[in-house]
Amino acid sequence: MIEGSHKLTGEVSISGAKNAAVAILPATILAGSTCTIKNLPMVKDVTYLRDMLIQMGGKIHILDNDKIRIDTSGIAAHNIDLELAKKMRASYYFLGALLGRFKKAEVPFPGGCDIGVRPIDLHIKGLEALGAKIKISHGLIKAKTDGLKGARIYLDVVSVGATINIMLAACTAKGTTTIENAAKEPYIVDTANFLNALGANIKGAGTDVIKIKGVESLGGCEYSVIPDQVEAGTYMIATAATRGDVLIKNIIPTHLDAVSAKLREMGVEITEYEDSVRVKAPSRTKAVNIKTMPYPGFPTDMQQPMSVLLSVSEGTGIVTESIFESRFKYFEELKKMGAKIKIEGRVAVIEGVPKLTGAPVYATDLRAGAAMVVAGLTAEGKTTISNVSYIDRGYERLEEKLINLGSRIRRIEEK
Ligand code: UD1
Repeated sequence: MIEGSHKLTGEVSISGAKNAAVAILPATILAGSTCTIKNLPMVKDVTYLRDMLIQMGGKIHILDNDKIRIDTSGIAAHNIDLELAKKMRASYYFLGALLGRFKKAEVPFPGGCDIGVRPIDLHIKGLEALGAKIKISHGLIKAKTDGLKGARIYLDVVSVGATINIMLAACTAKGTTTIENAAKEPYIVDTANFLNALGANIKGAGTDVIKIKGVESLGGCEYSVIPDQVEAGTYMIATAATRGDVLIKNIIPTHLDAVSAKLREMGVEITEYEDSVRVKAPSRTKAVNIKTMPYPGFPTDMQQPMSVLLSVSEGTGIVTESIFESRFKYFEELKKMGAKIKIEGRVAVIEGVPKLTGAPVYATDLRAGAAMVVAGLTAEGKTTISNVSYIDRGYERLEEKLINLGSRIRRIEEK
């Protein structure tokens, strides 16, 4: 429950990147020894993966709030807990990691947010090119191989998940794997850096061609996960939407270039420091157009919070969602708060209103849930958001961080 219309002010520290953490945890299987992971966000998706690793025979010690030690030497299983795996998208990374270590893997079709069809054909195509035989039946993906061999793989669509899954499987394949039209998101670079710290030989992560020279085996390491650019971007937008002034700390400012550029265009003052950014909002932001694109373009994960800001900005903004076909469902919720939005396929026309008003709304998915929080923070009156477990999948200590910034938010039990 949020009592809105309070400016966000002060400082907030950003947690580790969920989308990097959910790739790095399954990747520890490839180490077959002990890894210490720091700056790990304790969000639900991370705890699901941790539980899956324990069930498979991994030993996990929690060393600190954001630091764990994982020993995967005792893992013998090539399959994962089906019920847990279905709760999240990133369980697909077990496919590449288990194939790489055990030459076989059994993984259910991934769950996660309902924001479009979300096929995994490119993951399958890539792993098959490396020599895996894959059968899909009854919602289960069964993969096995006599030995993976390096290959040249062109991804028809830029895919974060497929790029990482192929990298995982290719680390110990014989020969060199080349991924062309690879995704360039910071999560890719972070996962590649982690794998290299285990002893892999990956070059080109962060560009559209990645080369992986297979090595005999991998070992343990100590590694710190990069900051979460989506969490940081959400606080930047929330600051702008509440006309606030916040220093957002523990970030890599260049990862936020697309969001910062748009906010500047809207009249927000952004000052970048080495590992932080100060966001100072004007009395009212100006509307802009946004089109979601793979990194370094404007991120689809930021489309939802940004649309909330557009709905209270001066003028009319056009939002084009080019990555996922059904990432506009939350607009029905936003309209309950007074937003003026017209949807035409993957394009939304948002006519800014002076203010939103609080209402009972529903989180339709993870980032839409975060968008509802931004809406509640800027709205006049009380907003109750149900289904907040979605938000817990990706935002660490959300209420605590927002309360420290001066907002009035609390978790209440649903009656
Ligand atoms: C990841 C992120 C998610 C983000 C998205 C795009 C994780 C756990 N999730 O999701 O937060 O919104 O990247 O930045 O890291 N596609 C295919 N075939 C495939 C795979 C993907 O056609 O085999 C399509 C998808 O339908 C989509 C596009 O490629 O249109 C991009 O998807 P992808 O980058 O794979 O997204 P995810 O890895 O699922």
